[in-house]
Amino acid sequence: MAAIEYPSTASVPRRHHEAIMEAPRPSYAEKRADAEERTRAQTELEHIVRLYNLGKPIFPRSLLKDLHEQIGQGKEEVIIPDIDDKPQTYSLRAHELCTDFPIINYSSIQRLIHFDPRYPSLLIGSRCPVSIQYTPRPNYPSSTSEEIHSAFEHINTQWLKSETCSNLGRFFVKPRFLPKTITKIVAFGLGTLGKVEFGNLSVRSYAQHAAMLTMASALRKRNNDSEGRQDIQCFAQDPYYDEKDIEFLTSLGITVVNDPQGFLEIDEHTLVFSVCPNIPVRQIVADVRWPAAMIWNSLTSEEEMDGWRRWLPNGEVFLAGPMMTDPDSDRVCEMVRYYNEAQLSDPGDYFGDLTVYARKSSSLDKV
Ligand SMILES: C[S@@+](CC[C@H](N)C(=O)[O-])C[C@H]1O[C@@H](n2cnc3c(N)ncnc32)[C@H](O)[C@@H]1O
Repeated sequence: MAAIEYPSTASVPRRHHEAIMEAPRPSYAEKRADAEERTRAQTELEHIVRLYNLGKPIFPRSLLKDLHEQIGQGKEEVIIPDIDDKPQTYSLRAHELCTDFPIINYSSIQRLIHFDPRYPSLLIGSRCPVSIQYTPRPNYPSSTSEEIHSAFEHINTQWLKSETCSNLGRFFVKPRFLPKTITKIVAFGLGTLGKVEFGNLSVRSYAQHAAMLTMASALRKRNNDSEGRQDIQCFAQDPYYDEKDIEFLTSLGITVVNDPQGFLEIDEHTLVFSVCPNIPVRQIVADVRWPAAMIWNSLTSEEEMDGWRRWLPNGEVFLAGPMMTDPDSDRVCEMVRYYNEAQLSDPGDYFGDLTVYARKSSSLDKV
């Protein structure tokens, strides 16, 4: 087995002006401090990988529930345990001189253990899978309720006529692919219906909310046809929803929830719907609760995943990538083994590469 290899600093291309200026040579003391820092980072990396490989959840449901309760109590500070269960304190106070607002930051396992040997200190101390971060509010002109209404009407009509919509609908009719026990849809990261970059509306975000309604109505119809007659609740979580989004989505029967409530809504009767979110939704769901079904971005192929595998000198194996906002992990791959899967063909490009996962009935005794 090959030991972990980090990119060599020697392979970093030099810019032209650097090529002609001799860099000062590091002193013996600097070299020694560097080596010590690398050793500490390596020990830290091994520690996190070991905990993860032993099965420690990095996004435990109890942690998110406790954080949700602290936020609900209107506290100015919240306490979130790190990967070693040590409490860390974060401020939620809005700063007077700054328009940035606090959001929950979720670090995928890949991000937690990302280690660049040129900056080893960046790994040291990154023990917090869940933390609070400040981010600027997007500064786009706001949309009126009328604009949102008429854009939704127009895009929903296109969506309902699309081939992607028919392809999605097939999963909800006989022969039954999705479990019949679904009573709830929880969506993540579908995006705002207001203006985004360059003042445009995002057709994808409109179509994805329309798709959520299509799925809810197909599930309602199916439940009405059977004896259960359970209603279908719809929840959507995206921190960039504004008041106009909330007003409009509520009028459609979609309940907007604040982060992390969406994750707490997931149970064994839930269909999770997530499209290209900016957070590791799949890794969070794998730790929090396994739902009845998921419609989310397709997993990376096994071959590609193997290319990301690295070995530590102590024999631990871990995935060093892919580095993206919602990456797969060994735990996500293990979870989907308990689901039947089928790719959703999306010629309209409303979603990109999505797969439908339906819990195998034989696996219901798991988690
Ligand atoms: C790349 S955009 C994708 C938007 C849309 N789904 C699409 O496919 O075009 C990522 C979305 O994830 C959302 N997001 C970021 N943090 C989130 C969180 N904690 N919970 C849910 N969504 C989140 C962002 O606000 C943004 O709308």
